[in-house]
Amino acid sequence: MTPPRATPNDRGAPIGVFDSGVGGLTVLRALLERLPDESFVYFGDTARVPYGNKSADVVERFSRENIALLRRHGVKVVVVACNTASAEALPRIEPDLDVPVVGVLEPGVRAAVEATRTGAIGVIGTAGTIRSGAYQAAIRRARPGARVHARACPLFVPLAEEGWLDTPVTREVARIYLDDVVRAGVDTVVLACTHYPLLRGVIGETVGPGVTLVDSATETARDVERLLDARRLRAAPGRGGSFRVLLSDRSDAFADLARRFLGRRVDTIEMATAG
Ligand code: DGL
Repeated sequence: MTPPRATPNDRGAPIGVFDSGVGGLTVLRALLERLPDESFVYFGDTARVPYGNKSADVVERFSRENIALLRRHGVKVVVVACNTASAEALPRIEPDLDVPVVGVLEPGVRAAVEATRTGAIGVIGTAGTIRSGAYQAAIRRARPGARVHARACPLFVPLAEEGWLDTPVTREVARIYLDDVVRAGVDTVVLACTHYPLLRGVIGETVGPGVTLVDSATETARDVERLLDARRLRAAPGRGGSFRVLLSDRSDAFADLARRFLGRRVDTIEMATAG
């Protein structure tokens, strides 16, 4: 049975995390490391993935439905572990929510602005994330005068899911996508897609050792910790945390993908429908 909605001081309630599919497991991984006493409910919208090539209106509707689903599981906080949803939907839906929410955009931007020396920053993500202009605007707000070079790299998602993390094809795709990012002379690149940390090796090799790669998972986990502390929502220590994985469609590949993205096995997968 679905537990009742969490109240703002429900410390024992789980934290909800959603993504279009498997990619958000890289964020869940950072959350599990940083917050070992918390329980998590992860929802991967595998029936409707990918979000990266859909319109902003559709990504907004899916995101609202995913948050409603997580609320039905009694979560105390929602983490939007998808860059496309964080960039395209979160600013529009946050004012309507009755639960605190953390996206991956602001933490990634903060890390990039802290890392850059020259103010020349690359942003790579899905077509939707780059088209939204949300990263570009947030970086310029955080560091006025920053030079932002943004590039959509849609083929990185299937390459990461296929496990082609370091093949000649992956290196060639990276070279083609990142050529103008390199030529723009950036000193920092934000991996603004949940899948890209898996391709960190090839991306790093392509942009060269002088460029810092920033991924938002670790920073997002820090933000969630700060939010829990500020609202006195931390689970009591010592009980040991846990996580549940809900998917909107079963896929044979999920177990293998989950091990790669999460760094551990997912023993039980539950089905759930958002919307
Ligand atoms: N999770 C998405 C993101 O971070 C990538 C996969 C998709 O296109 O749905 O933008």
